[in-house]
Amino acid sequence: MRVIAIDGPAGSGKSTVAKAVAGRIGLPYLDTGAMYRSVAFAALRRGVDPADEAKVAEIARTFELGMGDDGTVRVDGVDATIEIRGPEVTRAVSIVAANSGVRAEMRDRQRAFAKARGGAVMEGRDIGTVVFPDAELKVYLDADPEVRAARRSKEVTELSYATVAADLARRDALDQGRADSPLAVADGALIIDTSGLSVEEIVDRVTDALDAGSEAP
Ligand code: DC
Repeated sequence: MRVIAIDGPAGSGKSTVAKAVAGRIGLPYLDTGAMYRSVAFAALRRGVDPADEAKVAEIARTFELGMGDDGTVRVDGVDATIEIRGPEVTRAVSIVAANSGVRAEMRDRQRAFAKARGGAVMEGRDIGTVVFPDAELKVYLDADPEVRAARRSKEVTELSYATVAADLARRDALDQGRADSPLAVADGALIIDTSGLSVEEIVDRVTDALDAGSEAP
């Protein structure tokens, strides 16, 4: 099973790079952030407080999540592709992602996803540290906070740059500071600062590292 783990903070370029690497080497791609967002969406839709640990963990264990190859996301049979990226879910997702019951279930689903498909390019916060510490290649993408906020701001046109930057800083602190599998650089990870690099250049560095790894004795 070939697993490539790509971790890093929001706006570091994970999704774009992970999709491109998956396309180049012919492996399926999994956006694990979308899974945590889907749990948050399911909780909000049922009127459950995202901070209610027991109820939200129960939702994570029992809800129906469909991640399409085309990037569509279905939650309990409803298309949630757009809404999981919206401000309500973005506000609620950090507390959901800090819930250990939710994380245990998501880890199981992520490992099962890769196992069923013979591997995957998986992006998130804890893929190289916790979900697949023995991945063939672990990559940690980072970029200056202003660069990351500018990238996110381009995607979320309905919010001001200041709002996006403040939200990013808040989520960085929560993701790095939580007790269960915080965002961190995995042992042996290839660290790439993507601030001044094009997507092409980043993808080249990742695939070069894969080639170098496969040539090693
Ligand atoms: O990458 P994103 O912004 O869509 O992620 C949404 C949230 O989920 C983010 O606040 C961190 C969390 N997350 C996580 O805790 N572990 C992962 N493997 C992926 C995302």
